[in-house]
Amino acid sequence: VTKLALVDTDPAALAADAVVVGMYQDAAPDGPPVLADGTGELADAFDGQLAGALRLLGATGAVGEVTRLASLGTVPAPIVAAVGLGKPDAVTAETLRRAAGSAVRALAGSGTVGLALPTTYGVRPLAEGAALGGYRFAGYASVPKPADRQPVGTVRLVVADAKDRAARAELRRASALADASARVRDWVNAAPNELRPPVFADAVAAVATKAGLAVEVLDEKALRKGGYGGLLAVGGGSPAGPRLVRLEYSPRGTAASRVALVGKGITFDSGGLSIKPANGMWDMKTDMSGAAAVAGAMLAVAALKPAVSVVGYLAIAENLVSGTAYRPGDVVTMYSGKRVEVLNTDAEGRMVLGDAIARACEDEPDYLFETSTLTGGQVVALGKRVCGLMGADDLLDRVRAAGDAVGEQMWPMPLPEEIRTAMKSDVADLLQVSAGMERSGHMLQGGVFLSEFVTEGLPWAHIDMAGPAYQSDAYGYLAKGATGLPMRTLVQLVDDIAANG
Ligand code: BES
Ligand code: MN
Ligand code: ZN
Repeated sequence: VTKLALVDTDPAALAADAVVVGMYQDAAPDGPPVLADGTGELADAFDGQLAGALRLLGATGAVGEVTRLASLGTVPAPIVAAVGLGKPDAVTAETLRRAAGSAVRALAGSGTVGLALPTTYGVRPLAEGAALGGYRFAGYASVPKPADRQPVGTVRLVVADAKDRAARAELRRASALADASARVRDWVNAAPNELRPPVFADAVAAVATKAGLAVEVLDEKALRKGGYGGLLAVGGGSPAGPRLVRLEYSPRGTAASRVALVGKGITFDSGGLSIKPANGMWDMKTDMSGAAAVAGAMLAVAALKPAVSVVGYLAIAENLVSGTAYRPGDVVTMYSGKRVEVLNTDAEGRMVLGDAIARACEDEPDYLFETSTLTGGQVVALGKRVCGLMGADDLLDRVRAAGDAVGEQMWPMPLPEEIRTAMKSDVADLLQVSAGMERSGHMLQGGVFLSEFVTEGLPWAHIDMAGPAYQSDAYGYLAKGATGLPMRTLVQLVDDIAANG
């Protein structure tokens, strides 16, 4: 992973393989793009011709655009690069986070990069964008591809005072989040044959133990003993049995509140007997993104040490087709004791999550946040970048604000009464999906089902990120593939609860 450092050297004197400046689009209406603040003596070093030269090379200042210029000895850095920041009055913390990330991604292969971007929002967005942008999945190629450039080694952030304590704390925080995000993305990007439930559980347990978290792993034998019917039903079709991983962080001193995190960990979702079409089934290796995000959040929490107690649950199973797979028509007794009539084995997420949520509630948390690649309906309704947010009405604004603060978008969705009614079963306590109308309010059915396993009155939220978990093209600080969402939102929420209860 890319290392971060603070420097208070002028960018014109910075020793680095490349130095990055910002460029605004259209600063004056219909005017040319101009250099952003933070460029120090750099413009003077080029006799005032830097902006003009960048324009000649095609720079427009559009957000995320990176333009490179050879400095030919003018300054110590052999490359000066400009990253677009868009219109100056529209710059947000997320613009800067994305710009820093785009620059670091574009300059992969460089040992050291200096970032001389506006510090309007402090160093936090710059540090986060740079560190997150330094991620690259190693992959499995037996011989590295020629164009596979290594991530930037070190990013030097140019600030007014490199010894500033608040800035240094932000840097450490950004590094902790980027390390956790790299773990999450490595797990999500992993091939499904390389990360079956026992392997995933053991990998998480190993790093979590090392990070100082208390770890408990329930294997299929322990799950059977405990009555985890949902996890066992879904995991029953695979010879690689299900797991429930519990990770616990306890602060020094007294915890202000207790937070529970729950994530969906389907290491591969074939759909089971209600099998998915062949085309696109490979994407279902990412169906453990929720569990990976919860594990990552726990690792970040262990590093950041907030004054709250946090327990994370990972509901891990592989949804396959076999003679021991669960069937449509089955009635499954869940961990909570509720009996569920299965109609579609492809709605497996809610089965494993129902158990994990009920178990998490036994710890008597003050808040519960669950996240999952739960429904294709989320992608249809909100697309690839906005997560669907459901749960206790008065908690949703707070979750959405936490997401906005870190650049992870969520949008509140209802849990309507008529959907609840449509999930009444003739033979059991509830239907897994509403009969004959799986597509109607598809995402909401998932939320309604999960709500049945949450303790009455507990503030809780469900984040459906079926689309946002994975992207087919790099964007801002995120590489192609796993995005790590919504790990940083979960950490932000934990911090918010530590500060405000
Ligand atoms: N893992 C899928 C949801 C999904 C879809 C994730 C697209 C990522 C991208 C989930 O288990 C699933 O199959 N959901 C079904 C639910 C249906 C059977 C009620 C779906 O979305 O069709
Ligand atoms: Mn499914
Ligand atoms: Zn699934």
